[in-house]
Amino acid sequence: MDSLTRSFVFLIGLVQLSSCLKGPKYVWPLGNTTVHREVMSGRDAHLPPTDQCFVFSDGYPGFPYKALTLTGEAGSFVDFYMRGKTDLKDLAVSVWVYPIGEPEGTLVNYLCETGNVIKIAVLESLLFVSFWDEYGVSVGATAVPELLVADTWNHLLVSRQFESGRIQVFHNGELVDDIDDDFPNKIPLPAKGSMRLGSSQKDKGDPSFKGRFACFQFYLATPSVEEVKASGDYCKPLKWKILPEIALETQAIDGVEKGCVADYVEPSDNPDVEPKECEVVDMGCLVSGVNWNWFLRKNNWKSGHRDTAYFNLVARDQIPSSSDPSLLGNFLAMDTKICSRSCMRIKGCQAYSASPVPLEERAESAANATTRCAVYKRVAEAPQALPGAVYFSMR
Ligand SMILES: *[C@@H]1O[C@H](CO)[C@@H](O)[C@H](O)[C@H]1NC(C)=O
Ligand SMILES: *[C@@H]1O[C@H](CO)[C@@H](O)[C@H](O)[C@H]1NC(C)=O
Repeated sequence: MDSLTRSFVFLIGLVQLSSCLKGPKYVWPLGNTTVHREVMSGRDAHLPPTDQCFVFSDGYPGFPYKALTLTGEAGSFVDFYMRGKTDLKDLAVSVWVYPIGEPEGTLVNYLCETGNVIKIAVLESLLFVSFWDEYGVSVGATAVPELLVADTWNHLLVSRQFESGRIQVFHNGELVDDIDDDFPNKIPLPAKGSMRLGSSQKDKGDPSFKGRFACFQFYLATPSVEEVKASGDYCKPLKWKILPEIALETQAIDGVEKGCVADYVEPSDNPDVEPKECEVVDMGCLVSGVNWNWFLRKNNWKSGHRDTAYFNLVARDQIPSSSDPSLLGNFLAMDTKICSRSCMRIKGCQAYSASPVPLEERAESAANATTRCAVYKRVAEAPQALPGAVYFSMR
């Protein structure tokens, strides 16, 4: 073989190798040039409603942008809504993180309707990685001691293999943990939920993570060692399919210079992002998660966190008048059981009524809601006649 042919063969090999590398499905660079924008599919992140102003600090060397800094305060997080249609099988999350001081707190938390699904957190210098299925059953966990280094950039990539349940943890490109105990095999994870960077969503006692974050990626694959090494390429504009144009306004807030997203619009243009299912409340809306939070926010209610309650029948075929001052509000539900469960989980709810939705109205409502639930903050008189209605108080 002459040298020309050899170099040609080598070139072919290289092209094939690189085209086999599987890249991330989503990339949120989280820099001063992109902030919440996603650059592969346009699945933009949601910024906390109270705060669209962020501190940006020196970025990861080689990434041409400054890095988003989460300060560890309440409201210092970013949410990524996942609204996939098919369950998640192989998956990986990857992030560059610069802990400010000793690393501590929740880095990533993926919460679905039914509860936590993925949690990556540092507690007492142990990095905990946990996966649960849609029933809240643990489907794999591992802990790596002394992994993240304070006040320096760390690349962390965690993957879970569908076939075996195997968990791999890479730190700065090196495989540091590879564990396949007796984890249940072939358990898919829910594809709908919200991923939060920098803090837990449900476990309120957990500390938030203080640090700089750059280039958060989500893979629908378990990257090989080569793919892990190549993951940083996707953090650079050359690989992006979308080049966001972000207008940042510099503001001094409490003496700290922040970049504020001037033209931030809640990304609701993706029709599947908004949790619409809870126009009519069903079991899926009830259990903690994105939809329940959306439902509470919409009605201006707060979460009650009750797991059990007993209800007494106060009146049959009668309910309090719709102008009763103890009325918190009302909503459509699939059945009466949903009303009692909702009352338990709405802060301040002491009583509820459930009335049948007339047949002709049922057909108009998209989900055929059968019940109108009203929730009350006190046990009221029930002077209004309504056939089929029931009125309960919490004991
Ligand atoms: C973003 O940060 C880089 C430094 O990493 C700077 O050169 C650039 O001007 C900044 N861009 C914006 C839009 O603030
Ligand atoms: C609602 O009920 C109507 C008539 O019974 C039916 O055709 C329709 O498919 C139902 N819609 C849903 C979302 O279940």
